[in-house]
Parts: sequence; structure tokens; C-alpha cells
Amino acid sequence: MKIAVVGTGYVGLVSGVCLASKGHNVICVDKKQEIVEKIKNSIPPIYEKGLEELLKNVVKNNKLIATTDIKLALKDAEVVLIAVGTPYQGDAIDLSYIKMTAEEIGKILKESDRYMVITIKSTVIPTTTDTFVKEILEKSSGKKAGIDFGLAMNPEFLREGNAIEDFMVPDRVVIGAIDDKSFMTVKKVYETFEVPIIQTNLRTAEMIKYTSNSLLATMISFSNEIGNTCAQIGGIDVREVMNGVHLDKRLSPVINKKRITPGLLSYIEAGCGFGGSCFPKDVKAIIAFAKKQGADVSMLSEVININETQPTKVLDLLKKSYPNLKNLNIGILGLAFKPDTDDTRESPAIKVANSLIKEGANVTGYDPIVKEEFNEVIDGKISYANDIKTLINDKDAIIILTRWDDFKIINQEMIDKLMKKPIIIDGRRMLNKKDFKIGSYFGIGYSPR
Ligand code: UGA
Repeated sequence: MKIAVVGTGYVGLVSGVCLASKGHNVICVDKKQEIVEKIKNSIPPIYEKGLEELLKNVVKNNKLIATTDIKLALKDAEVVLIAVGTPYQGDAIDLSYIKMTAEEIGKILKESDRYMVITIKSTVIPTTTDTFVKEILEKSSGKKAGIDFGLAMNPEFLREGNAIEDFMVPDRVVIGAIDDKSFMTVKKVYETFEVPIIQTNLRTAEMIKYTSNSLLATMISFSNEIGNTCAQIGGIDVREVMNGVHLDKRLSPVINKKRITPGLLSYIEAGCGFGGSCFPKDVKAIIAFAKKQGADVSMLSEVININETQPTKVLDLLKKSYPNLKNLNIGILGLAFKPDTDDTRESPAIKVANSLIKEGANVTGYDPIVKEEFNEVIDGKISYANDIKTLINDKDAIIILTRWDDFKIINQEMIDKLMKKPIIIDGRRMLNKKDFKIGSYFGIGYSPR
């Protein structure tokens, strides 16, 4: 099938490369010449596990072509996937890239007598495709959606760091379509995937995307509220509580006498909050839109409120040992918003670093992927250590903020030997408190009685 992908950011490029590797003929379009050049030379403009190898293959086999010329890309396309950015700005998502793209596509549709399905892949607020996008396409083409061209909404469910696998082995494909013809055409894109395909209307597809992310974010904030409650009561460890909760067979089913541990359970754990480019933005965007519609979204609003204060909980723990942080040497472990990525957007480490600096502490950071460039996203400046031991060395306290596996090597002996005073604050509850002495280990969701 001939597919055009407009926008070669994270979603567009991963989608394009994966569809090309499934045998489709894909043309990726981007306005930025330097990105197009990189793709042509098989250099991924973003870091994503497995992307480089796949990109090399599809470029070599001529299954994926990159261009800045949208007209050329749409010349023979049966499906056009729009995957341009929809950043959250002020109190709504910014649709200017979608608008620009829809106008350009509309002009091309005007001069073409071929049928193609314009498909939104970017995350957009419910009603965007069947009102905003449809109107722009119809106005600029002089044609009618559902008659002269098809219209669909096909959200993505890719996790950073797992995007290739999530695309190649999806759990579901959602296709919102204006009519059956649009649906059947987009369905052909996924013909070789073994996956349940759901047909909905356009706005339901958009809502499925927001609901999925809102559910995961809600589970995290719920777990954090429970963790904070355990800490406040004292003598209850949220990890033990969650272990007990997870064993409910409805959460971890027993099949053939074997307990299955679904990935979902890791979202029902207390920590220092969620970040990244999706959860905070998507939950805020759906709240703002729902409010405009007169819907009561007080629970989702609380999901955000809890998340905004959650990083400060590690500081509360630190202050049990040091009421005044001035001139203390504090090490922070983990700068990315989650492990296996270099992404620091909305990372809890930003809030923690800013607060520590504001209170006069000398902060040093370490992350297996993120390096000194972290200073560009915070208000002040931190020093940077090149390895875990250097980070720990001579510190008054260390704080774990990202669940990197590498941090599991930290033990009592190491902190006794290296630190000025062995105090570790575990913002991710990834170490076993039993491996540490009382008075050395402090974790989110627990305070001894
Ligand atoms: C998230 C969703 O998981 C994807 O399904 C969705 O497609 C994507 O947003 C998107 O809308 O584009 P992503 O932001 O890459 O993907 O990352 P997650 O791995 O879900 O992590 C989000 C937050 O949840 C992080 O702050 C992380 O620390 C937290 N998290 C993640 C957990 O608390 N537990 C986990 O097991 C995984």
C-alpha cells in the first residue's frame, strides 16, 4: 500500500519506518530539510531502541523515502497519516501545525481526482477531526469528506523506549472513521498485523487515546495518594500494601496455576510522580476541554494536583534528617522522566533540583543517559558526576528519582564507605529497605513509627 506520513517526529518516524518494514511503500514528509537529509542517510533524528537498524533496512530497500515536498508525497498515496506536533499551550493544545498541514493537503486534494484517506495520528482533543480538520480540508479543497476523500483518526499507543515493539506488536488498533470506506482503507494498513481492530467514529477514537493515558496517570496519582497516607499514618509501608493489592486475581490472574504479572501493575506503585511528553500534557488538555464543555473533571484535576506536589515529598523526607539544606552536598540519581530514555520533559528531577538549589544545597546529578545538558532545563545549575560512585562520594544525602536498573548496585556498605553521612532517599521505592540500616534509608510512602 502507498502511505504518506506527514511529520517525522517521534510518532511519524516510528510509524513510517515500521509500516515500511511491513512491506508498505512509505514517503515521509517534513518541513525541516536537515531531518529529511538524516532520514535519507539512515540516521535517526531521535533516539529510540531498534530504530536505526530498521531505518537502514527500509531506506536500503527503497521502502521508505523522505522528502520536504508534500505534493510529491501525496501523489500516489492511498492513506495520508498526519503526525505533526500538538503541544499543550496555555489552556489548550496548539493546533497550528494540524491547521497548516490540513490546508496544504486540502490544496493538493483540490487538484487531484484520486481518492485518499486523510488520517490524523497526532493526539487531538475529541471533536478536532470531525469539526476543525474536516472543515479546513473541505474549505481548502472545495470537496466533501466521506464522498471525495476519506477521513479517519488512528491514535498511537507508543511508549518511549518501547515504541518499535509497541508498533510492531500492538495491543489494539483503533480506527475512527467518517464512513466505512475510510475505515476499510485504513484497515488495509494493518492487514499483516495480528491485532484486534476497533472501528469507531472519529471523536470516540480521539477519546480512547485520552482515556488510556488518563487511566494510567490516575493509577499513578492514586498510588501516590495511598503512599502519602501510609507515610502520614506511620508504620505502614506502601510497598507491602501494594504487594497485597496486586495479588487480587483481577489484577494478576492465575492461569494454569501460574501467576501472571501484567505490566499495568507497575503503574500501581508509589513514587515521585509521572512526567514525560504525554501524561501531563494529555491529562491537562482533556481537563481544560472537558471544563469548557461543562463536564465535571474534578478527579482528573486532582490527578494533576497530586502529581505536581509529589516530587516535593522526597524533600520532606530529606528534611527529616536535615531541616536546613543550605550548603549541604546532595546527589540526585536519575534525571530522565523514566528509565531507558534521554527525555527530561516534565521529569520530577527538574522540580527536585530546582527546589534543592533554591534552598541553598550544592547539587550533583548522575543519569546513565542524560548528561550536563540537564542544566538547560532547570533554573540554576548542578554539577555532573560521571558514574554512580562519584555521585555518592562525599554527599550528605542522595536521592533516587528515576527507576534505572543501574541504581540497584547501591547498598549500605557503599554508602557507609563513600558518603559523609549515609542517607538515601528512594523516590522510586526500587531498593529493598531491609538491606539498609534504620536511619539510613527513607522511601516514599513509608515512615517508621
Ligand atoms: C505513555 C503511554 O504509556 C503510551 O501508551 C502512550 O502512547 C504515550 O504515553 C503517548 O501518549 O504518546 P510514555 O510517556 O512514553 O507513554 O511513558 P510511560 O512508560 O507510560 O511512562 C509515563 C510515566 O509513567 C513516567 O513518568 C513513568 O515514570 C511512569 N511509569 C511508567 C510508571 O509509574 N510505571 C511504569 O511501569 C511505567
